[in-house]
Amino acid sequence: MVVAAPSAEYALQHLIDPETCIRCNTCEATCPIDAITHDSRNYVVDFAICKNCNACVSPCPTGAIDHWHQVPKATPFTLDDQFSWDTLPPPIELEAGAQVDVPNDVRELTEIATAGQGGPASPPWSASHPYVNLYSQAKPAIATVTGNYRLTADGASADIRHIVLDFATTAFPVLEGQTLGILPPGVDQNGKPHHVRLYSVASPRDGERPRYNNVALTIKRVTADHEGKPVLGIGSNYMCDLKIGDQVKVVGPYGTSYLMPNHPGSSVMMVCTGTGSAPMRAITERRRRRRALNEGGELLLFFGARVAEELPYFGPLLKLPKDFIDINFAFSRVADQPKTYVQDRIRERADKVVTMLQDDNCYIYLCGLKGMEKGVIEAFRDVCREHSLDWDALKPQLLAKSRLHIETY
Ligand code: A2P
Repeated sequence: MVVAAPSAEYALQHLIDPETCIRCNTCEATCPIDAITHDSRNYVVDFAICKNCNACVSPCPTGAIDHWHQVPKATPFTLDDQFSWDTLPPPIELEAGAQVDVPNDVRELTEIATAGQGGPASPPWSASHPYVNLYSQAKPAIATVTGNYRLTADGASADIRHIVLDFATTAFPVLEGQTLGILPPGVDQNGKPHHVRLYSVASPRDGERPRYNNVALTIKRVTADHEGKPVLGIGSNYMCDLKIGDQVKVVGPYGTSYLMPNHPGSSVMMVCTGTGSAPMRAITERRRRRRALNEGGELLLFFGARVAEELPYFGPLLKLPKDFIDINFAFSRVADQPKTYVQDRIRERADKVVTMLQDDNCYIYLCGLKGMEKGVIEAFRDVCREHSLDWDALKPQLLAKSRLHIETY
């Protein structure tokens, strides 16, 4: 442990633990002021920019974000220091009487993190208890591939796959809405092992096949970056090329708040695009398997894709009874038809949406493209306004009651 001089002025520096970080980009995507950045190895927080608003803390699936080190204000860890780390440095021990500048909300969060309770986001009150972090990068679970099916039609441009992993006798409990991490084999350009790739599970808690110890993932083969430049995604191409019988290293599970309600009579509104359908399939399948119990509650789904041929689970979705799930597709690239997004369908179904937004037994889930989140929130604001409701007053209530859950990338 380093002992620092008592004369210096100290502050708490927000740091990300490179050992537990799974590089899912959630913190960087959440930070409202771009204080978080990354290179090919590490996610780091810029001390000069971070205002300790803590927006990044609760969405982090692993708790890698829950680190604050006391540092001399004049010499905090630089970005280059943080990029070079494989582990967090040891904390500095302050001598008696040293003054540390600790914002109140950081104090609360460090206390919560120290108590091992994670960030403040919470699941629906009736959600089942999730297991998290059972398997680490040092000790991953080994799963065997038992299925790898293309979900998109043969002529479709996107290759989206339904990949089934079997854990045999290894316990890997997951709830609908949780994620797991895959460790691709090999090393990156720096000769270090590839970082973890995070995927939402697409199966309900009792297995892809009921009472089997297996789980399915919905994975799109990445062949271009956000600007459209050709690039082969390491994780997605590894997964999409897997053959039956291949073994895969799996870490996790992760996620303590994006979970479904369990109480009878609870309703679910789901809004997704593309592979954001994975958690919605898990939730829908959980409810479908329990249909005979007549527990009540409604399912409302808004699902966006370029064309029907690119919509994962299109066929099975169409077979679900109308009195079980109310499905609203939005296709954006159908020849001779206007471009339609999920937010357009939400506006068309304003009455239903507003009724569900006001129903305390209804829980709302968004998953998919970041741009979709913005558009959907705007649509919620509009439909509320039409019905003399104030979305900006309603949203904090939904969050406080753990009724609104968002996972976008
Ligand atoms: P688009 O045709 O404009 O790309 P993808 O296939 O890339 O995963 O996208 C899934 C669907 O989400 C597509 O229909 C895509 O439409 C749509 N999409 C793209 N941007 C947005 C947005 N800002 N809001 C809602 N949907 C979007």
